[in-house]
Amino acid sequence: MDPLIAIDNISKVYAMRGGDVHALRQVSLTIEEAEFMSIVGKSGSGKSTLLYLLGLLTSPTSGEYRIRGRQAHGLSDFERSQVRGKEIGFIFQSFHLVPQIKVLENVLLSARYAPETSSTDTRKRALELVDRVGLSHRIDHRPTELSNGEMQRVAIARALLTDPSLILADEPTGNLDEENGDEVYNLLKSLNEEGKTIIIVTHDAQLAARTDRCIRLKDGEVVNGST
Ligand SMILES: Nc1ncnc2c1ncn2[C@@H]1O[C@H](COP(=O)(O)OP(=O)(O)OP(=O)(O)O)[C@@H](O)[C@H]1O
Ligand SMILES: [Mg+2]
Repeated sequence: MDPLIAIDNISKVYAMRGGDVHALRQVSLTIEEAEFMSIVGKSGSGKSTLLYLLGLLTSPTSGEYRIRGRQAHGLSDFERSQVRGKEIGFIFQSFHLVPQIKVLENVLLSARYAPETSSTDTRKRALELVDRVGLSHRIDHRPTELSNGEMQRVAIARALLTDPSLILADEPTGNLDEENGDEVYNLLKSLNEEGKTIIIVTHDAQLAARTDRCIRLKDGEVVNGST
């Protein structure tokens, strides 16, 4: 069977006035369904670039990307956003919630990208997810009326709405204290146990050690970890 994602000799170069920035250099990586992995490395080593590439948010300068055996090269923007909407959920360090709207509406935002689900079902599912992340009592709050840990749990519920098979998290515990960080880790771990593939970019060595596989980037190259 095809792996969930296979990238082969991927490079990403940003052409800047001061010269080219090689954010990724010839990275090859295979990610199997239901993996629980982390990506570590110094600031500027290319972690976010790699994560966004895996999530089809950016395209490589060269190299091949396949998701379930399907070449991403040649997909239209619409097809890429369809694959993203179906397969991939994102979680960010700074949560990326919309401050003016309430918890439930924030969770419902990702439904826009999977319009085929009927709205009553989607709403029911959003309520279940808010409950799952332990925030039923905060449903009428706006993000500014939540703690950081609560905001990240809303973001996780939002990422789960479309039932993606792959969750990509860019420093999901970076703005959280230890207790809230643990809670986010436990949520991601339980999602993995249900069969979801989880990839976490992190600076936290302890968090990385609690994933099944860790790869390290240095100057845009994978320097250890099995690829
Ligand atoms: N849109 C962009 N345009 C130009 N250069 C970029 C762009 N995005 C990233 N870079 C450069 O590419 C390199 C890798 O950046 P990236 O954000 O992937 O690093 P990172 O490992 O996630 O760092 P951090 O830990 O600080 O988040 C850096 O040198 C950065 O300056
Ligand atoms: Mg980053």
